[in-house]
Amino acid sequence: MPGVFYRQRPGWTFPRAVRGEGAFVWDETGRRLIDAAGGAIVVGIGHGVREVADAIGDQARQLAYVHGTELTSEPVEQLAAALATRVPVDDARLYLVAGGSEATETAIKLARQYHVARGERGRHKVIARWPSFHGSSIGALAVSGRPSLRADFDPMLPVTPFIPAPYPYRCRLPGCGARCSLECAEALDAKIREEGPDTVAAFIAEPVIGASAGAVVPPPEYYGLVRETCDRHGVLFIADEVMTGMGRTGRWFGLEHWPGVRPDILTTGKGLTSGYVPGGAVMAGGRIVETVNAGGGFHHGFTYSHHPVVAAAGLAVMRYLERHDLVARAAVMGEHLMVRLRGLADLPAVGDVRGIGLMAAVEIVRDPASREPYPASARMAQKIQAEALKRGAIVYASGGQVNGAGDLIMLGPPLVIEREQVDEAVQILGDAIAAVTRA
Ligand SMILES: Cc1ncc(COP(=O)(O)O)c(C=O)c1O
Repeated sequence: MPGVFYRQRPGWTFPRAVRGEGAFVWDETGRRLIDAAGGAIVVGIGHGVREVADAIGDQARQLAYVHGTELTSEPVEQLAAALATRVPVDDARLYLVAGGSEATETAIKLARQYHVARGERGRHKVIARWPSFHGSSIGALAVSGRPSLRADFDPMLPVTPFIPAPYPYRCRLPGCGARCSLECAEALDAKIREEGPDTVAAFIAEPVIGASAGAVVPPPEYYGLVRETCDRHGVLFIADEVMTGMGRTGRWFGLEHWPGVRPDILTTGKGLTSGYVPGGAVMAGGRIVETVNAGGGFHHGFTYSHHPVVAAAGLAVMRYLERHDLVARAAVMGEHLMVRLRGLADLPAVGDVRGIGLMAAVEIVRDPASREPYPASARMAQKIQAEALKRGAIVYASGGQVNGAGDLIMLGPPLVIEREQVDEAVQILGDAIAAVTRA
């Protein structure tokens, strides 16, 4: 593909995709691929939904763009109202952006400005978890615990205090035995004290950890403790629901699996527009927004913030999710997916299978007894991904969670996927794992 600058993948030839429908994508040779990952856990409502394409086209014809500093538009206002009824955020206000990294940047700057507006100018640190991922732009990468993505940029990244993420399969915290001691949650309190509470603006976390650790679901008490700790120290809690939002986990937002816990700021992306156009959203509590406005307004924005076409796509996606009851479907189909994935546990290289709703991961290991990963240089996840593609399924390769080594295959199919399609995808994945790890 001369002229196109992609992410580098040694030895990879990109098949050209030409069409999508439901859980399937077709390439230019007419080969049908089952999209078991929704690309990068993006496509929620499925490919090829006519009414979403129409909503985007209609909005583009009527009003494609105005700049968010001087004009508003009906779809942005409607999306704000629709999202506010779904997000677990008090009196939520929408700041619409064009992707997950932009949402992270916006959220951390908003947290900072909230404290500045209250006269607490010393609060500038954002505590994050390791491993984690919140985006690729410099600010978002700085709060992301992903060694392979940070390596070349480390000297450029603002220093972030990290605490260990909850990761039961590899937990090394001293108190952790057969039962989780919640030391990972208690580490937040210790870290805030160590840094000095009056220097900490926010804590950011993915409710269910995405590609950096592979669909890790924290223990039931975890976010209650996080919320209490943040409140005790006047620290804002940012829930990064870029991957977990919009029904992916079987609830509208992942944090709803921890009833009663409400973040101050919630970000989402991916499933918001389901891949039809680039989109992301920050839903901030009214208290935060009012405080920032009283302090002179939010000093932040992008050319494409509050874009009418993005909003029209988001609205059409939400209506589709609601009309077809896809969030409940994700819960039901997710159980089926987990049952099928557990069937792979007998494969020698499958160390762990985990997830919630239609967000799942298989952790690949060299030795299941010691949980030793393959060396990073073996690129096992990428090889399994390539093998699965050859056999007709799109899966998502990740890893690096064990000091740069570690292989994860993530699944996050469109929420419309049928049972037989789940079965087919898992069969292909199992065959691909067996073929690659046997070789
Ligand atoms: C949890 C999480 N946050 C943020 C991002 C960044 O989103 P984007 O790639 O749309 O910038 C991602 C992307 O994978 C993500 O999974």
